[in-house]
Amino acid sequence: MSAAANIGVVGLAVMGSNLARNLASRSGNKVAIYNRSVEKTNDLVANHPEANFIASDSIDEFVASLAKPRIAIIMVQAGFATDAVITALSERFEKDDIIVDGGNALYTDTIRREKEVSAKNIHFVGAGISGGEEGALKGPSIMPGGSKEAYEHLGPILRSIAAVAEDEACVTHIGSDGAGHFVKMIHNGIEYADMQLIAEAYDILRKAGGLNPIEISRVLTEWNAGELESYLIEITAEVLAQVDQKTGEPLVDVILDAAGSKGTGVWTVQNALDLGTPVSGIAEAVFARSLSSQAAQRAGAPEYSAGDTIWEIADQGAFIEDVRQALYASKIVAYAQGFDAIGAGALENNWDINLGEVAKIWRGGCIIRAQFLNRISDAYRQDSKLLSLLFDGYFIRAIEDAAGAWRQVVSKASLAGIPIPAFASSLSYFDGLRAERLPAALVQGQRDFFGAHTYKRVDMPGAFHTLWSGDKSEIQTD
Ligand code: 6PG
Repeated sequence: MSAAANIGVVGLAVMGSNLARNLASRSGNKVAIYNRSVEKTNDLVANHPEANFIASDSIDEFVASLAKPRIAIIMVQAGFATDAVITALSERFEKDDIIVDGGNALYTDTIRREKEVSAKNIHFVGAGISGGEEGALKGPSIMPGGSKEAYEHLGPILRSIAAVAEDEACVTHIGSDGAGHFVKMIHNGIEYADMQLIAEAYDILRKAGGLNPIEISRVLTEWNAGELESYLIEITAEVLAQVDQKTGEPLVDVILDAAGSKGTGVWTVQNALDLGTPVSGIAEAVFARSLSSQAAQRAGAPEYSAGDTIWEIADQGAFIEDVRQALYASKIVAYAQGFDAIGAGALENNWDINLGEVAKIWRGGCIIRAQFLNRISDAYRQDSKLLSLLFDGYFIRAIEDAAGAWRQVVSKASLAGIPIPAFASSLSYFDGLRAERLPAALVQGQRDFFGAHTYKRVDMPGAFHTLWSGDKSEIQTD
């Protein structure tokens, strides 16, 4: 087998096949392919002769078909399957070759793998690839981590297959070792929040406004012409317009209301908890999926007389606009929290992540792609040390413009008994962030009372404890 391919793909399920086809469609690429079950390889070659793939039936043949420095992108299931392929490749690759994991790996696995593989002088790159099957074929957003040296070789190839937004390829070197997979994880967490917020807006329009799915689809299409323009709004309009061919009912009404999850949203919340950075919108989105899947508990819920009131709507147009504004404000909070989490992760792991660049490569190709990300990249370009997106001029004005509607929608939806965990938690986070004093002072008093955990004072340095079971005098403990 002649070593003719400048890049190879291992794992030819839909994502891997589409990525291989995308690579092969770009001038200058000669693409090697390998899949453990040879049928998938043969099908891809037969269905896409135009790609001129160099197909291999064995990993040895695949490695031999790669020109040096060899580059192989792994597109198999995260976890053990990925480890198995990494082992097989690292036993055959040589100094300066590059192994890329394009799956949704947990970033701590990527950090471990990068250490193990780079000890053999082989580069290991964990690359988040977002955009689903269509993105893989037509242009994803790509978030590679790993060494700068590896990116020097890899960057031009990834730029040739990535989505393009504002004339720029949606790919950048995110940072060392697991940085790329960490940012992809946060991308997915933001995706969960965005999807949940849209779903809550739909629920309000339907339950309080009495709109039917096709009417809500039309509303979303209108919203998609403004500041909420995004892939998720666009596809939600399509989902709501879909009629079930078996029953003639709106498809959304025959789908079981129990949401699945492959786990990246859970990882985001677990890591944000460890990092001590609030991602309340994302967390509520994850828990909303959990609640939706508690079938037995939900079926067992008794009929409550819970004080629900009817949401009186005098002006349907104004009501719909209020919901739109509440959605936009809540979305801003969710993204602000997501970017805070990236900043916290970068600090914790010594990654030099440029938040503005992350926003730029999310403008196209990925699931959360949206016009709104231009505003975020603008904010970080104007102030790379921004303490929160909520402190950027554009977002201050956007929130101030929406605040009245946001509070109306959250309060009236609560009065009407409509569950809005992501809307409500985003508003409370915003109010907590801006509060002059928080009730955490009382929590410190409680902790000191039962656990002598001490507290700080506002008027002098040091830690203090009150002798609650004694004379209630205060002692300074350091
Ligand atoms: C993407 C998507 C993708 C995600 C699946 C499943 O960026 O292309 O986020 O990576 O894993 O859509 O996501 P769930 O966790 O919702 O199952």
